[in-house]
Amino acid sequence: MGTKSTVQLVSGLLLVVVSFVSAAEKTADAEGVADEHALIGVETAQESRHTLHPDAQWYPEAGLGLFIHWGLSSVRAMNISWPMIPGRPLGSKRIEDPAEIARIIRESDYNLNGRPPEITPNEYWKMAEHFNPQRYDPDKWLKAAKKAGFQYAVLTARHHEGFALWPSDYGDFSTKNYMGGRDLIKDYVEACRRNGLKVGLYYSPPDWYFDRDYMNFLYYKAARLNPEIGSLGPDLKPRTSTKSKDDIARHQEAYREMVRGQVKELLTRYGTIDLLWFDGKPPIPNGNQCITIEEIRQLQPGIVINPRLHGKGDFVTYERTLTTDKVADGWAEFCNTWTTCWAHMDIPFRANGYILGQFVTCRSLGINYLLGVGPTADGEFCDGIYENMAVVEEWMQKNGESVRGTQPLGKGQKASVPATARGSVRYLFLLPAFRNNGAYDKDLLKPESCTVQLQGIDGVADVRLLADGGKLAYRLEADTLKVDVPAERRTPLVDVVRVELK
Ligand code: GLC
Repeated sequence: MGTKSTVQLVSGLLLVVVSFVSAAEKTADAEGVADEHALIGVETAQESRHTLHPDAQWYPEAGLGLFIHWGLSSVRAMNISWPMIPGRPLGSKRIEDPAEIARIIRESDYNLNGRPPEITPNEYWKMAEHFNPQRYDPDKWLKAAKKAGFQYAVLTARHHEGFALWPSDYGDFSTKNYMGGRDLIKDYVEACRRNGLKVGLYYSPPDWYFDRDYMNFLYYKAARLNPEIGSLGPDLKPRTSTKSKDDIARHQEAYREMVRGQVKELLTRYGTIDLLWFDGKPPIPNGNQCITIEEIRQLQPGIVINPRLHGKGDFVTYERTLTTDKVADGWAEFCNTWTTCWAHMDIPFRANGYILGQFVTCRSLGINYLLGVGPTADGEFCDGIYENMAVVEEWMQKNGESVRGTQPLGKGQKASVPATARGSVRYLFLLPAFRNNGAYDKDLLKPESCTVQLQGIDGVADVRLLADGGKLAYRLEADTLKVDVPAERRTPLVDVVRVELK
């Protein structure tokens, strides 16, 4: 590999590590999402027909969901599953120097902020011996979440790592084998219900533990571009033997049965499940037919299903980068992380002005916001989660009416900022600005005076700042309302202008 490309590669890596959410990282994020989805076989068809079952109609108005990524990786406070897949930074490059390849393989993974994970799949799974949360109290998590305004939760019942958080009769990698049959899902489901949150379960059909003797652990793009590396086994060494056709066929059948069986367990053991969140399909023939949407609805008639296994479902999903600015024409959800990692890591949280900005932007487009946090190995939310939830709670107390039960603006109206509507009221959202596309408090720019516009209206009765109820100066020019918001009235969070129309 030439010096120039080494420099490019190294500086590329540094850029991702050093700047948190720069424009470059946004592109890297979008690429990362596409690459991960290709690896786990996420179906990307964006069909937006949804169930009409009355029990499912809570979904489009739910607004805010809590995405909880929990599994073995919490033992070492690293990202979930992905640290065992080496070679991500190789991305779409062919690397000539074997020493460079070896180094990059050892120092892979994308959002560990400079901490090389140095973990093989076998080492990763060993964490199961140390995963036995003693302070697990989902009631505490969900009580705080409910107070902050979350309406539903989604917990990773089993991520790609393959460890099932319930005592499964399928496979040999669940709390049945490691925690004496303790059922972490049961406690979670009951806590959701007790606290009035809709119950969501995430399930990854791809299972890298079950598939460990068959899959290549090298990041698929790197594998394709660097075929001489060969297939890496769960110790990240090249495989020395190959499987027979019969072995592969038997394994694929067992894989199908395991996924089918586990999904059925989740849908039959815990009473009503409101939402099933798949993440990809198993790498076997007709992998998305392991269990059909019809079979799922036979077990849970009122359930909401995402489209990442079947290619169609009740809503479309966006992840990490909101790649639309159009009002959703069906049900839709955008998921992102409160830090930059799905699972618990000791890294900073993004500014709440940024998070709330994403939330109101989603609501202005009729999209739900599924916000990610990760519990510790002991089963607790770290202080940061509770502190940030308290900020959201306070914001909701003052501004909640702008996002609860509201709709995107109707066709004839347009605003210069994200906006929502209810009856004769319009809400205009002022988002804080961040230096260099940043997302952290340290990047926050001082709020400035501004003028926001709402076009397509006939008359105005009243204009106020929602948080303090104080009046704001405005003028109506033809069909356009212009509202002046002085810098002193603004906060580092999202400020809401409440407009009462005539
Ligand atoms: C992607 C990631 C997965 C994560 C999910 C959440 O599919 O690969 O790790 O759980 O996004 O949306």
